[in-house]
Amino acid sequence: MRRPIVAGNWKMNMLQSEAEDLVKKLLEWNGLSQSVDIVIAPPYTALGVVRKLVKNSGIQLAGQNIYFETKGAWTGEISAAMLKDAGCQFVILGHSERRHYFHEDDALINQKIKAALENELQVIFCVGETLEQRERAQTQEVVALQLKNGLQGVHATDLEKMVIAYEPVWAIGTGKTATPEQAQEIHCYVRKIIEKDFGKIVAENIRIQYGGSVNSENSKCLLDQEDIDGALVGSASLNLESFTAIINSAN
Ligand code: PGA
Repeated sequence: MRRPIVAGNWKMNMLQSEAEDLVKKLLEWNGLSQSVDIVIAPPYTALGVVRKLVKNSGIQLAGQNIYFETKGAWTGEISAAMLKDAGCQFVILGHSERRHYFHEDDALINQKIKAALENELQVIFCVGETLEQRERAQTQEVVALQLKNGLQGVHATDLEKMVIAYEPVWAIGTGKTATPEQAQEIHCYVRKIIEKDFGKIVAENIRIQYGGSVNSENSKCLLDQEDIDGALVGSASLNLESFTAIINSAN
């Protein structure tokens, strides 16, 4: 049995006071369960305040990015070790907003994944096709290539420290969600690729989250699918009611 994992990607939202307010309410909520991994990815500036609040609560912390170098003259960047030092257990890498707006390619993402793993940060590795690619029936090809390139040189044992997030780009922040069947099809395909490259046991154990306009209404049907092991949630994670409803549906 794969343990469900629900992660809230706050993106560039939440001042420290807002973060404090939301996390305090989340901690007061009586549904924090033993059976779902809950991860929050605040912006860097709110990591400190969230870290203090979630200590011993079971809620885990993620950073939204790292640079692959260990230290030095890289103005504006932070390393895997710094994120670890700031209390993070996870980092989100390969997110479509990083790929699109900041021109991150598979080779760079691969370097970041390796840097994270070397520093014992778990990785939420995002893959997904654009609308154009889906319409051209290239979804599987695109996802397979992102996986192959992103996981180049990564060992099977490291996959234990990774979660894959399938996030169709056309579903992110658009209010359009993949149907449970569309999502399941790609999740199953991702698992097959992992099996081919890393073996059956790794494929059976790796958790694959769905992301892209997940909300309190659609989460249950998505999470009921056999190969959907959790959700990577953007805008709905900024709201207590919707985030907790999504966690409930993973339970
Ligand atoms: P969204 O974002 O839920 O707002 O669509 C998901 C994501 O980018 O991870």
